[in-house]
Amino acid sequence: MNILRIICSPRGRASESYRLSQRLVDRLCASFGSPGPRVTDLDAAALPHVDRDYAAALSAPMDPSAEILGRGALRQSGELIDALQNASHIVIATPMHNFTVPSSLKVWIDHVVRVRSTFKITPEGKVGTLADRPVYVAISSGGEFSGDAARQPDFLTPYLKHVLGTIGLHDVTFFTVEGTARGDEALRAARARAEARIAAHAFTANARAESLIA
Ligand SMILES: Cc1cc2nc3c(=O)[nH]c(=O)nc-3n(C[C@H](O)[C@H](O)[C@H](O)COP(=O)(O)O)c2cc1C
Repeated sequence: MNILRIICSPRGRASESYRLSQRLVDRLCASFGSPGPRVTDLDAAALPHVDRDYAAALSAPMDPSAEILGRGALRQSGELIDALQNASHIVIATPMHNFTVPSSLKVWIDHVVRVRSTFKITPEGKVGTLADRPVYVAISSGGEFSGDAARQPDFLTPYLKHVLGTIGLHDVTFFTVEGTARGDEALRAARARAEARIAAHAFTANARAESLIA
């Protein structure tokens, strides 16, 4: 089992979303015996924006030369897509920023949602070409965005579900710690709720995804 974890908070491993993602990774690891899972961490906050060649390639009818594909954001994109393809399970650790994904996660999305590589264009619209595999999303937010206490819109979970579906990843499960700005007691309660949900979740082995890994 290969777990790819994408860390999106500017606070990195000190972040609440990373903390929650670690609970997920621990549960995933505990759910599967030997051989032990491998966890690869990717720091999305360190990714550069896509560049000029990348933008030109994505709006052209065919891919550019091997030389252009091998440099800059196109090379980076190829490596990020390889990492996705080699993962049996994906964990995304992300805060909510301004009601949606942080810019670091958007940069990763821009690199991996790529025509002719992870989706194709059909008369019916974009169709994902990646083999499906479980994606677990660990979200942290200062206020609530779900349930009766929500006082803000949620452009994060519907967006992420849609954009991951665009490349073929439809098996997406969200876990949240909401209200981190509401003080220690509220934070403890939010963490406990999230951990109870993780404990109750049935994590299943993904034999199909395992067989697809290079
Ligand atoms: C630029 C920025 C924008 C934010 N926007 C929101 C928001 O729209 N809604 C919200 O509930 N919290 C918002 N927050 C608060 C974070 O979501 C909250 O502090 C979260 O717990 C951070 O998680 P992390 O420790 O994983 O980075 C924002 C924080 C930052 C830095």
